[in-house]
Amino acid sequence: HGTSRINEKGHLEIGGCDTTELAEKYGTPLYVYDEQLIRETCRAYKDAFEKSSLRYQISYASKAFCTMAMCKLVAEEGLSLDVVSAGELHTALKSGFPAERIHFHGNNKTPDEIEYALQAGIGEFVVDNFYELELLGAMAVEAGKTAVILLRVAPGVEVHTHEYISTGQQDSKFGFDIANGQAKQAIQTAVNTKGVRLVGLHSHIGSQIFETEGFATAIARLADLYEWAQQEAGARFTKLNVGGGFGIRYKEGDEPLAPFEYVQAITEAIKAEFALRGLDFPEVMIEPGRSIVGPSGTTLYTIGSSKTIPGIRKYVAVNGGMTDNPRPALYQSEYEAILANRANEKPTEKVSIAGKCCESGDMLIWDIELPEAKPNDVLAVFCTGAYNYSMASNYNRLTRPAVVFVKDGRADLVVQRETLDDLLRNDLLPERMHAVK
Ligand code: LLP
Repeated sequence: HGTSRINEKGHLEIGGCDTTELAEKYGTPLYVYDEQLIRETCRAYKDAFEKSSLRYQISYASKAFCTMAMCKLVAEEGLSLDVVSAGELHTALKSGFPAERIHFHGNNKTPDEIEYALQAGIGEFVVDNFYELELLGAMAVEAGKTAVILLRVAPGVEVHTHEYISTGQQDSKFGFDIANGQAKQAIQTAVNTKGVRLVGLHSHIGSQIFETEGFATAIARLADLYEWAQQEAGARFTKLNVGGGFGIRYKEGDEPLAPFEYVQAITEAIKAEFALRGLDFPEVMIEPGRSIVGPSGTTLYTIGSSKTIPGIRKYVAVNGGMTDNPRPALYQSEYEAILANRANEKPTEKVSIAGKCCESGDMLIWDIELPEAKPNDVLAVFCTGAYNYSMASNYNRLTRPAVVFVKDGRADLVVQRETLDDLLRNDLLPERMHAVK
């Protein structure tokens, strides 16, 4: 998919670059991003909204993959940006991302983070709870500013996905409950809170969602609340943000919808629910993360040791693992992979791909058919663009991999590989201890 293909040498090529050459030049593990595919996906979302005739804003949820180059690309494509921490906000601002197109999420924004966002003049805060509402209002008054806000509500929608990434159900740490009246109370409070200007509602029902029913149900509940807010609470709403969560294909059998299908279902549901209540159509906001970057990322590893347990299993180890991709360990996520340097060869055996960390749970792929992998072969694991680099760790004191963007035969290093000394950057030795000479 994207610009990936197998070249004359039988090597995997992405963005016109031979992945075995990338592995050679930049080392492994290496995250390779198909820049063209990211841009095309951004445009697919925009085209879908253009057809809806609604006002819209597409925010890329930067938690999926946040680096300066990615923020820059998103800015170039005309999208907005969601951040959930001072770190993401800082990355965006330093890349030159326009502050007014940044939205700030999170269930426990700290006073320091709020201060940073207020001073930067970001577009909107998505307020999650009463504590934040009060804190933000007071801090905005103090700073002589008005914070534009949406309220995040929990619409009580259950979606079929892993429970750790499902967020719209009632028993969730996020947002104001619709079911028990908290959402209405929050609207009334916000309307009367100095320092904030409430302009709409937000909900995010979960991630890696394959159907549109959950969005439709959430939209109906949001429309009820939107109507009530305007008619009973004196609110003046213009925006409705229905979150992200659009699924992608990680493996055979995954059947997500295309960006335009999600957008069409959402815009049609909004038109229908708002027309039904005689409400003006809102500006519609979505915030996809995974679907914008997930499919465009491929991780390259070098094969090392292997272990065969006769009659049971063959383990083949790579020089990375749960440190660069914690998703299999966290969510039992499954991935597809090939040998990038022998991409034309037929699979001859079933193996399991192990990481190099010191724990048994550090497995990247269970039971995959591959040609017999030898040391120094390059393994390419697909669809690792979202929540891999952004969730990477230094466990076992492994250095985090480099990231390259490839396009039209050109590769640009956008994140350098960490060095061993980078690992020590923040370490201090108290004077009473003796430094090793
Ligand atoms: N908006 C909000 C408020 C969110 O909490 C999230 C994701 C998104 C948008 C973007 O969702 P997406 O389009 O990427 O599905 N680490 C997990 C995913 C956690 C998602 C958290 N929130 C994973 O690796 O699957």
